[in-house]
Amino acid sequence: MSTKLILTTAIAAKGLSGNVRVPGDKSMSHRAVMFSSLANGTSNITGLLEGEDVMATLAAFRAMGVTANGPTNGQLTVTGVGMRGLTAPEQDLDMGNSGTAMRLMAGILAAQKFASKLVGDESLTGRPMRRVTVPLSAMGARCATDENGCPPIHIRGVEKLQPINYKLPMASAQIKSAVLLAGLYADGETSVTEPAPTRDHTERMLKAYGYKCDTERVNDQVSTIRLSGGGELTAANIDIPSDISSAAFFMVAASIVPGSKIILEHVCVNPTRTGIIDVLKAMGADIKLLNPRAVGGEPVADIQVTYVGLKGAVIDPKLVPLAIDEFPVICIAAACAQGETIVSGAEELRHKESDRISAMVEGLRAIGVEVEERKDGMVVQGGSITGGQVESYHDHRIAMSFAIAGGVSSGEIVINEADNVATSFPNFVELATSVGLNISA
Ligand code: S3P
Repeated sequence: MSTKLILTTAIAAKGLSGNVRVPGDKSMSHRAVMFSSLANGTSNITGLLEGEDVMATLAAFRAMGVTANGPTNGQLTVTGVGMRGLTAPEQDLDMGNSGTAMRLMAGILAAQKFASKLVGDESLTGRPMRRVTVPLSAMGARCATDENGCPPIHIRGVEKLQPINYKLPMASAQIKSAVLLAGLYADGETSVTEPAPTRDHTERMLKAYGYKCDTERVNDQVSTIRLSGGGELTAANIDIPSDISSAAFFMVAASIVPGSKIILEHVCVNPTRTGIIDVLKAMGADIKLLNPRAVGGEPVADIQVTYVGLKGAVIDPKLVPLAIDEFPVICIAAACAQGETIVSGAEELRHKESDRISAMVEGLRAIGVEVEERKDGMVVQGGSITGGQVESYHDHRIAMSFAIAGGVSSGEIVINEADNVATSFPNFVELATSVGLNISA
């Protein structure tokens, strides 16, 4: 990324108000592009997130012979090439900033007859990839990371993969999905057992494209997901609802700026994603789900958030995988709550687009918040935010979280290196301004 966007915030003088529709769900958008590309027939996707991450996935499939028209206003038409129809890319496949794109693509590419190489930007090039190459190699794939376990991922062609029964070492939907996607090509039944529930969009969307995939609940935490290789995907029409991870910024904003009342429209409220609602409710937030309905196999609702003032809470570690991407903005909620908030069991946050524990601790201190860093989380003392300069380490969610803090900060907050906001939420500043936040780029 060459631009070095700086966001500047000022206090929101009055409460936030209005109805907002945030862009389409990022996880679902990646998967819709992947499954449509591998399906037989033409799929129509609406509500697609046109962020840079999803565009990297789309560009990769185009580079492997898939024809797609769009996206225009979230609409994309993809003519699938079938499970065996991808062609060797002429160049390295650049996944940009996206861990989801790289890890899920590794699952698909590990099963192809041709070689490929997955590369990424500076942040992605520092992220752990053995978590996918290890299980894929156990299936017979010929793939390797660099010596340090990070990208690029070098993949050599194979004729066939063997199925495995894989026990995930950590609760990760990306690893689960990479193994399941490779399992589509394996000779027999592949299973993945997860230690705690993680987002299940792969499983739900496979079914929407006509592929059988079963989930067996072992207990309230552990599940095993199974599918058999060798089947086909059938083109589908997929309507992608709004991303709760993007809505979360506004949920916190309305919960911390006095006098606020907003409605977030058409948000995916899949129970593997709603940890943010449980966390905020545990902190005393007033959140109501209106008009619950089902869209494309996913539960959807309008989320009404009314300001009531938050109190600190001990966050249940079981909620961590269900709110994994929302912790940066949860830290902002904690900084504005009365009393202490404890985050634990969240060491995975250190392996996201930045080390989100240290980035948040550093940034919170820079804007006047008292916080103790722990290996697997932090302890935040709620109080007032005074403002200051924050490094976002090119991490979209760190930048947007501090932009939300600007709504209640007595002084300006300047957020450096906010360029990657466009990876997940291209119109963030525009939408935030439309509900009454003062953010300028
Ligand atoms: C994602 C899974 C999560 C999440 C990421 C999207 C997905 O990552 O943080 O933003 O779409 O499967 P992990 O699997 O590393 O937890």
